[in-house]
Amino acid sequence: MLNLDQHPSGRHFLQIPGPSPVPDRILRAISLPTIDHRGPEFARLGLEVIDGLKQVFGTRHPVAIYPASGTGAWEAALVNVLSPGDAVLMVETGHFATLWQKMAQRLGAKPEFLSLPGTCAETGLPLAWRHGVRADLVAERLRADAGHQIRAVCVVHNETSTGATSDIAAVRRAIDDARHPALLMVDSISGLASADYRHDEWGVDVTVGGSQKGLMMPPGISFNALSPKALAASKTAQLPRSFWGWDEIVEMNKTGYWPYTPSTNLLYGLHESIDMLLGQGLPSVLARHQRWAEGVRGAVRAWGLPIQCADPAVYSPVLTGVVTPAGVDADALRRVIHERFDLSLGTGLGKIRGRMFRIGHLGDCNDLTLMATLAGVEMGFKLAGVKTAGSGVAAAMEYFASHPAPQVLASAA
Ligand SMILES: Cc1ncc(COP(=O)(O)O)c(C=O)c1O
Repeated sequence: MLNLDQHPSGRHFLQIPGPSPVPDRILRAISLPTIDHRGPEFARLGLEVIDGLKQVFGTRHPVAIYPASGTGAWEAALVNVLSPGDAVLMVETGHFATLWQKMAQRLGAKPEFLSLPGTCAETGLPLAWRHGVRADLVAERLRADAGHQIRAVCVVHNETSTGATSDIAAVRRAIDDARHPALLMVDSISGLASADYRHDEWGVDVTVGGSQKGLMMPPGISFNALSPKALAASKTAQLPRSFWGWDEIVEMNKTGYWPYTPSTNLLYGLHESIDMLLGQGLPSVLARHQRWAEGVRGAVRAWGLPIQCADPAVYSPVLTGVVTPAGVDADALRRVIHERFDLSLGTGLGKIRGRMFRIGHLGDCNDLTLMATLAGVEMGFKLAGVKTAGSGVAAAMEYFASHPAPQVLASAA
């Protein structure tokens, strides 16, 4: 069992790309007494949380909240709109796209996994895991589907295993240009509230979100943002569903309640999170993620190591994947860093396990938490005998010092 008495002094550095550190303000809100989820006070909480979430997703339409991890909301998205044997076009961008595709298969759909073939000459890693979704390939595949068999296109917005943030508006244009009626379903579990996201404006039919990333919440609740077209599709979709069914949830949510016992205390936290995000203004939240990401990438460049995402146009503002030199086990390096400096970095997942690690720069961070993180990595390199071209810490210090955060500029003006 976890023995918190044995924990080293100071705060643990949770620099994985989610769960991200939970601000004290949210932790305090979660610790308030649980109330009656059928009582009048609860309805106000429910309505305010749903209304706030709509603003975060950029939608005027319903957002279903599930007491489940993101995987549950993935399943909800699929079972509400698909029927057994439905063809689904999914795109291999990394580990999470792969898991969602496997889930679609298990549920009885027929996913086709569009992938960039080949490996990268520089790193030997699969090319598909170093890039975002290629909208042109989606368009090409949809044009070839003259009979419109493909029911949905499913893509991951921010691929947490690699650090590539795909252009969702371009995927929408690809579907429209091909004059194809497929639904567009997007996993923005790790993009939401950290990377720009616009459910309605981008014409997304279902967006899957999660609590434990940009929303700065503990894991445990997840979301489906819906479009009228998705709701209409759910009326005829035949995959079995009960708990995940949108109809009852959307109906009861109109009055601020749920058909089952919701995660009352996590909803307190979510209320606080939304208050913080909207209070600061989403554009400013997104801008600070971009700035942190650029500072961290500057460090990786100074080390002379490849960034997992090979396409600067889709660099993630949420995390940066760092490819370790050939022969260096990235997980052994992570272990040393964890043991010596109480710093958690994200492991390499799936096809890139052991070849890279991930630095999360999302949610409740600041320049100095990131500087400490980079210092931990650089000390880890020294301990593990990894030679770097230069100091990433020095490069990031220079970047952060010479590029003040937008809000600092605003208050100085
Ligand atoms: C992009 C993405 N999709 C899906 C998931 C799965 O979510 P969960 O682990 O909360 O079930 C994750 C988790 O990290 C993720 O990052």
